[in-house]
Amino acid sequence: MTSPAEPTAPLDALMACVQTLGLPQIQRHVFLCADQTKPKCCSKEAGLEAWEYLKKRLKELQLDQPIETRPTCIFRTKANCLRVCAQGPILVVYPDGVWYRNASPPVIERIIQEHLLGDRVVQEYAFLVHPLPTTAMASAPM
Ligand code: FES
Repeated sequence: MTSPAEPTAPLDALMACVQTLGLPQIQRHVFLCADQTKPKCCSKEAGLEAWEYLKKRLKELQLDQPIETRPTCIFRTKANCLRVCAQGPILVVYPDGVWYRNASPPVIERIIQEHLLGDRVVQEYAFLVHPLPTTAMASAPM
């Protein structure tokens, strides 16, 4: 019988990471298809350019960390493939569930300004709006 794998880092190191990243303050999570193993929705270069732009702008606008005047942050994750595989780079914003196509740097700038900062969907590039349904677990105390 095998035992579960031992944690590789102490729990307090993990909790320090949670705080450093601002995980409890995440307001929105952006997933971008980039650096794909099999680039299908766009070229590998276009995906990487979009990813670098997204990272740079979130940092420049201080949206990647909670700050004194705004206790929330935007988290971003590079996805290997979001399974749409057409008209990329594909980008999705949760919890709003807004899926965007052709997320090149100029389009990402609009998504940042209009959606992330202005709470308005960039209709021109959104091809699906499907907020995830709330589950019983989401409202249950931990
Ligand atoms: S390769 Fe980008 S969504 Fe599949």
